[in-house]
Amino acid sequence: MEKKNIDWANLGFSYVETDKRYVSNYKDGAWDEGELTSDANVVINECAGVLQYAQTCFEGLKAYTTEDGHIVTFRPDLNASRLADSARRLEMPAFPEERFLEAIDQVVAANAAYVPPYGSGATLYIRPYIFGTNAVIGVKPADEYQFRVFVTPVGPYFKGGIKPLTICVSDFDRAAPRGTGHIKAGLNYAMSLHAIMTAHANGFDENMYLDPATRTKVEETGGANFLFVTKDNKVVTPKSSSILPSITRRSLIYVAKEYLGLEAEEREVSFDEVKDFAECGLCGTAAVISPVGKIVDHGKEICLPSGMEEMGPVTKKLYETLTGIQMGHIKAPEGWIRRIV
Ligand SMILES: Cc1ncc(COP(=O)(O)O)c(C=O)c1O
Repeated sequence: MEKKNIDWANLGFSYVETDKRYVSNYKDGAWDEGELTSDANVVINECAGVLQYAQTCFEGLKAYTTEDGHIVTFRPDLNASRLADSARRLEMPAFPEERFLEAIDQVVAANAAYVPPYGSGATLYIRPYIFGTNAVIGVKPADEYQFRVFVTPVGPYFKGGIKPLTICVSDFDRAAPRGTGHIKAGLNYAMSLHAIMTAHANGFDENMYLDPATRTKVEETGGANFLFVTKDNKVVTPKSSSILPSITRRSLIYVAKEYLGLEAEEREVSFDEVKDFAECGLCGTAAVISPVGKIVDHGKEICLPSGMEEMGPVTKKLYETLTGIQMGHIKAPEGWIRRIV
């Protein structure tokens, strides 16, 4: 199969239309059999549930080429179950998890020419989502839905090398206790846009959100979970029922314990203890881990000892081990890598 003529190393993170996408529609209480289509446009009623009341949820994962030339995805079963959890919380029908996996395999295989080659640092980003399609004017769930998966090639996350981020403690809240912070609902991202634009306007890369009830505990950023390393090399990630259960974070905790022999714990993290950590990173599908060098709380700076030039040593080991597992240099735990081609 011949690859598309794309400058993989210089791709950014923006939408590039590819050849095929998967569509299945839900009507009269059942999902239809679904199919691949070349049509990149969605035509829905002006009063569709997604347009009026934001009834939509999504996932994000990647396909990439391993060292031995296979195209694979990383733990897509966890995206399938997280999308089903998101759908149920928004009163939408869950898409069957086994069919989710098959749909992704089909779309990736049909767009194999867009999967960046091994070593390019680029990947194929996969976006599955479900949205309410029929007209609803009273506030209630739609009766009809579409499950759709498209893919788009994206460039290497750390173009020009890894540079630690500077983040700020946000004055905005991301997710209420007992709200929707633990699911991947479009509405969580709509309301984060003003907060991230404000952070950028003030010269910060990202927001650190605190728990809205007490504003004393660390939650997450708009698109990644936190990972901290203590001065005695223990990995700590915040536990909260209102953060998204990051697949990368869960994988890193396993890697820390089972591959690196480190202690790792998921527990509440108070903002007061952040100044005592040795390293901080943001974990998610996009970057695996982005190191944080500085956290600014209304003018008060916390400078992580790992500094503004490079990843901290434990963060780096975690990053190298997990990306090694993904790329096929390091043996993966059973069931983590799904081979498509
Ligand atoms: C709010 C939020 N937290 C965390 C993550 C990281 O999750 P994952 O590791 O599953 O990509 C994401 C990205 O999907 C996110 O949007």
